[in-house]
Amino acid sequence: MTTKVWGTDDLGRSVELITIQHNLFEATVSDLGAVLVSLKVPDKGNRQRDVVLGYDTAVQYFNNYETYFGATVGRNANRIENSQVTIDGKTYLLEANEGQNCLHSGPNGYHTRRWEVKERSASAVTFALFSPRLDQGFPGNLELTVTYKLTDEGLEITYTGLSDADTVFNPTNHSYFNLNGQGSGTITHHRLQLNASSFTPIADEKSIPTGEIRSVKGTPMDFIQPKEIGEAINDPWEQLQLAKGYDHNFAIDGVRGHLNPVARVEGDESGIVMTVLSTLPGVQFYTANFIQDEKGKDGAIYHSREGFCLETQYFPNAMNTSAFESPLLEKDVLTTLKTAYLFKGESHGNV
Ligand code: BGC
Repeated sequence: MTTKVWGTDDLGRSVELITIQHNLFEATVSDLGAVLVSLKVPDKGNRQRDVVLGYDTAVQYFNNYETYFGATVGRNANRIENSQVTIDGKTYLLEANEGQNCLHSGPNGYHTRRWEVKERSASAVTFALFSPRLDQGFPGNLELTVTYKLTDEGLEITYTGLSDADTVFNPTNHSYFNLNGQGSGTITHHRLQLNASSFTPIADEKSIPTGEIRSVKGTPMDFIQPKEIGEAINDPWEQLQLAKGYDHNFAIDGVRGHLNPVARVEGDESGIVMTVLSTLPGVQFYTANFIQDEKGKDGAIYHSREGFCLETQYFPNAMNTSAFESPLLEKDVLTTLKTAYLFKGESHGNV
């Protein structure tokens, strides 16, 4: 484990870059936003490649409200219609930052705060954050932690939340992956398999789900059998046109409360295979449709479809949609959520 000072926050406190390692895995994270800055994994030739997009400087992460590279998003990932939620009969107003709607909890996200380093070891770091009552508009004093842990298989991210009043707890990690290596061009030839037989269609270009949970069968959303991400991405199909590509929530098949398989993705050139597992019910599959000439790490300039996100979470706007499982965290109940991004080289065969 190595630590280095990366910059200072608006209160003059230093922010750190922390690098953890295990076997051929290496992750760099920061107490600025509990962000994942880099993730190095072995390719088919056992050469390490950094498979997440990101920035070089702390200043870029303080302003990380367009791309959300590597962000720990909270309290609520994704969109809330009309920026309001009703909890125990009371309506709470959130801060709108996408028209009338609230995206990724508004203009004061957890991913730009300075977190406390609670525990660290050679291969794991736990960050803690206290989010007071009415922070971002949500009720309840919330204590949360995020742990990044490298294992023999890859990276595990574990979230815990405890609140003194009923509230929303729906964190995610917003990393953009490119399994050929960050800055290496398009991800449209990666092969993706999604363990989701349904998705939640969006009503219009504002991307709020209609409330329907629709079968993927016979549509470009069908990744039950592996196919290239780009195979149908440009089809003249309404859902893809509204979002300019994939930017949709899929309903993960599996048993609620279990660590269910979510996805398997194969880098076409590197042979790097990533499997994603999660205890959460949904995953936002996003193909970086809105990224344009974004200056990234090591001189890279990122464009649309040069990274993909698999953001595990409760379904978008679930607090306002009766058909979707609620992300309500009950008062005084400690909850744990977990997502794992595991890696195997091509030579190791299927996962
Ligand atoms: C959203 C995209 C958005 C991106 C960056 C994703 O989670 O679904 O629509 O552009 O985050 O904010």
